[in-house]
Amino acid sequence: MRIFSKRELNEYSLSLTYDDVSLIPTEISRVKTRSEVNIKSKFLGIDLAVPVVSSPMDTVTGIAMAKELSNSGCLGIVNRFDSSLTELFSNGNVVEGVQAVSVSLTAEDSLLEKIASNNLIVCIDTANANNAHVLNKCEEIKKKYEVKVIVGNIAHGGTLQQLVDAGADAVRIGIGGGSVCTTSIQTGIGIGQVSSLIDCYFTREDQKLKIELIADGGIKSAGDVTKALSAGADAVMLGRMLAGTKETPGEVIKYADQLWKKYRGSASFGVKMKGEFIEGEETMVPYKGSVKSVVNAISDGLKSAMSYLNCESLGELKQKDKFAVLSTSSYLERLPRK
Ligand code: IMP
Repeated sequence: MRIFSKRELNEYSLSLTYDDVSLIPTEISRVKTRSEVNIKSKFLGIDLAVPVVSSPMDTVTGIAMAKELSNSGCLGIVNRFDSSLTELFSNGNVVEGVQAVSVSLTAEDSLLEKIASNNLIVCIDTANANNAHVLNKCEEIKKKYEVKVIVGNIAHGGTLQQLVDAGADAVRIGIGGGSVCTTSIQTGIGIGQVSSLIDCYFTREDQKLKIELIADGGIKSAGDVTKALSAGADAVMLGRMLAGTKETPGEVIKYADQLWKKYRGSASFGVKMKGEFIEGEETMVPYKGSVKSVVNAISDGLKSAMSYLNCESLGELKQKDKFAVLSTSSYLERLPRK
């Protein structure tokens, strides 16, 4: 079997995603226990205990989620669809513990001023960052205000330089990979997440660009988080993995003897509520209890992976260059059987 370095994987003939690759421990690990492993990082100037960012979707991140994630050492980006943003600034003072908010392309100065004066990170929440209007908005915000700006999404590093020129501090990487995303079906656009990440990572390294990379969409497990980080992401953005937790907006529903919460795409009918072009699904996910338990499970899985791979820090994990490309049957063999 061939062991691929990240650079070699970037040249692979097919587009690859999380289930296509696996990390191979090829050396004796010096890590004694998981507790020795450090997964702390600095992301957009914020100290993260776990490199997890929540997706700014209306069924994922409202104020309660953003606050709880901040308590857990992660980053929550409040969505722009429900009343969360209004609530956030309702009585003159911003609600404590919220570090980032998303805005639409048409966000007005009155909102941006409040965001900037409260030192919050801005996420311009669009489907396609490779768009002149998005880049103009980013440039305008960066010129007027002292804020960090996240743009998105891209699937390839070809335009990374232009994003950096527009002042973007971070970019969401992934088109078509989200679990409620129908973009690829509706448009034929998008490639596998691992290929997207590796391409953007090497573009940034080779062109010496200063921009942080967020793996966005398609992450199903702590194992996928490890793969995203070793493919070059600085942080992972989660939708479905956080959906269904107590802190998400929306009610718990009892159906068929089980508890559920709604999870839907930002471009789904339920969000748009009109006959626009729909690129997202709506679904129900099992109720999961507190988001803290999800974050802890991710943290444990990531630390365990790092102990297998002889890594004491996320910086070391990014340098680990030992990937296997899985055949379908070796992928299936990895799954537990009943
Ligand atoms: P998940 O973690 O796989 O569920 O993916 C979440 C990501 O899917 C989000 O952060 C967005 O990038 C993307 N996304 C959210 N809503 C939609 C949609 O309606 N259409 C396409 N992609 C979406």
